Amino acid sequence: MNATLSPDRRAELLTAAMTDAEKQTLTFGYFASTLGPDQPKPPEGSRAGSAGYVPGIPRLGIPPQWQTDAGVGVATQGAAAVKRERTALPSGLATAATWDPDIAFEGGAMIGDEARRSGFNVMLAGGVDLMREPRNGRNFEYAGEDPLLAGRIVGAQIAGIQSNRIIATVKHFALNDQETDRQGSGDSAIDRAAARMSDLLAFQFAIEAGNPGAVMCAYNRVNGPWACESPWLLTDVLRRDWRYPGFVMSDWGAVHSTVASANAGLEQDSGAPFDDKPYFGPPLAAAIREGAVTHARLDQMARRIVRSMFAHGLLDLPISEQPIDYAAHAAVTRKDAEEGAVLLKNEGALLPLAPALRRIAVIGGHADRGVLAGGGSSLVYPRGGNAVADLKPTSWPGPVMYYPSAPLDAIRKQAPGAIVRFADGTDVAAATALARESDVAIVFGTQWAGESFDVPLMLDGDQDALIAAVAAANTRTVVVLETGGPVLAPWAERVPAVLEAWYPGTEGGEAIARLLFGETAPSGRLPATFPRSLAQLPHPQAPHSGETRYSEGGAVGYKWFDKTGAVPQFAFGHGLTYTRLAYRRLRARAEGGTVRADFQVTNTGSRAGVAVAQLYVGPVGGGWEAPKRLGGWRRLALAPGASSAASVIIDPRLLATWDEGLRQWRIAAGDYRVMLADSARDIRETATVRLSARALPADWKPPTAHALH
Ligand code: GLC
Repeated sequence: MNATLSPDRRAELLTAAMTDAEKQTLTFGYFASTLGPDQPKPPEGSRAGSAGYVPGIPRLGIPPQWQTDAGVGVATQGAAAVKRERTALPSGLATAATWDPDIAFEGGAMIGDEARRSGFNVMLAGGVDLMREPRNGRNFEYAGEDPLLAGRIVGAQIAGIQSNRIIATVKHFALNDQETDRQGSGDSAIDRAAARMSDLLAFQFAIEAGNPGAVMCAYNRVNGPWACESPWLLTDVLRRDWRYPGFVMSDWGAVHSTVASANAGLEQDSGAPFDDKPYFGPPLAAAIREGAVTHARLDQMARRIVRSMFAHGLLDLPISEQPIDYAAHAAVTRKDAEEGAVLLKNEGALLPLAPALRRIAVIGGHADRGVLAGGGSSLVYPRGGNAVADLKPTSWPGPVMYYPSAPLDAIRKQAPGAIVRFADGTDVAAATALARESDVAIVFGTQWAGESFDVPLMLDGDQDALIAAVAAANTRTVVVLETGGPVLAPWAERVPAVLEAWYPGTEGGEAIARLLFGETAPSGRLPATFPRSLAQLPHPQAPHSGETRYSEGGAVGYKWFDKTGAVPQFAFGHGLTYTRLAYRRLRARAEGGTVRADFQVTNTGSRAGVAVAQLYVGPVGGGWEAPKRLGGWRRLALAPGASSAASVIIDPRLLATWDEGLRQWRIAAGDYRVMLADSARDIRETATVRLSARALPADWKPPTAHALH
């Protein structure tokens, strides 16, 4: 308990004081909610309605691990009788769309505060699985298609959560990139080097930037073995190469063996009784007695767990339930939602809407009641309850939740002098009639996504037809999307303005209205490509069961579109604002074995705005998985007429390819293009840099680790 010693030393001393039975206590976790009236009761001492509980060891001052979901706030399990009502951030994808690690940190700090004050010391948040499949039902929980953006943003959220001195959990390790058949025969098959330069790189960047106390291994198989018993993932990559010091917990029901998983690098079997039978606990004790799992391995399991507990304050700063400052937290989630919304189109500067507008039509999307949230274990129940009750499915992976933050009310507040009328969109004729007699029509399009199922790449029901009809009735139509990820937009050419608000969280209605009326200007950029058609995807047919051969390798998202020459509906990195931005004076040079780029951005418009200047890199002679990769970016707030100089150092691993045989990153000598861009398809300036060959070991880290805080 000597806090002046290192977490490693303290863990060593504490583990040495434990009995074997006590070590095993730490390796076995329970689901802490009820699955139904005839199911086992959650353990004594667990928090009702929560995800997990691992008993403590009072004799040694080791507290229980009270585990809560997840990425947007303190969730409650659907079957729980009483719902813990808390603040919800916008979706993880919305936070990624901010391209702003500071707001990601702030949002993490806020949800971690609510977790600690609700009695939780482990938050199962930090989802960073790449958007390899835009129909993945859980894309809303993650951070898009690019490893650098996803890793940096999720790493910042993890750092924010852990600033409350609790453990955060990067998940789902790895390649859990679709929900179809995630626990069945689903086997994510991918070239190992390609995985290192895509999905695994996102985890690597997130772990470097956030230093999570835990990693959650995923449900699916990866190149054969289950992720939670994969020596490649849990030992070779995570420990030997990345030198990860924390522990691995399983996903709930993701364990399929005792010896194979323990010896592969799994420390904690989570969520009993979700496994088909317990694998740790008594079976682990038997395996140790028989010598199939060594005693030294048991010590290491316990040591890794308590090391994270020491490193993140669980022993030094015990938690207790405290009041929560919901007003302050509302400001955080609203700011995140405002920064994460992406203005996809704004022809004729239809937006921002003038408050002097007289007749405004608001149509569809339950906009008179609230804003949509994603389904599954990450669902946070809001103060005020579900604004639209009884939508199907009402039980897992439902309920379909609308947060009681109605865009209609917020729009009325923004335009007090206007007549603002609502049509729910079920009667298309009535909706188009209302649109026809209004000065502007704001039509909402929704797509409900959630854990355990994948979704069509489109809005639910026949909303596309509704939008087309409204746009035909009024040329001044604004579409506001509340989706789990990209959707096909067949009406896009016929609508002048489109705002993607994602799942905007418990202040989403306010955020949407403030953006529409220009109280704040949109600054979000797409963290994922919006395809024009399914045919453009690596796997046009819907995600299927069985082996999913990720033959596209590292060419995920915009990289696939660059490689195949397909033109997307809206590009990765794309996003408009209410002013104009000029990118100038790009200078790129080799420096310290990598590339440094300097450039200038000017606000040439008449309103304040935020630029997200993107740097892409690629070898002039080709040879990578795709022509270019995102190498860095800068988010710059600029007053009208202001200019700002900025520079970016490219992480050298983004200039390299992974050599699986040599287990190192190798930069090939030659010329590299450095592109200053406003999106993956809007390159403004290009420079060329000559690099000499360079090899980086598997455990290489940047000198000033990307830890953002
Ligand atoms: C769920 C999810 C995981 C969650 C856990 C506990 O099935 O896959 O993200 O943290 O189980 O609810």
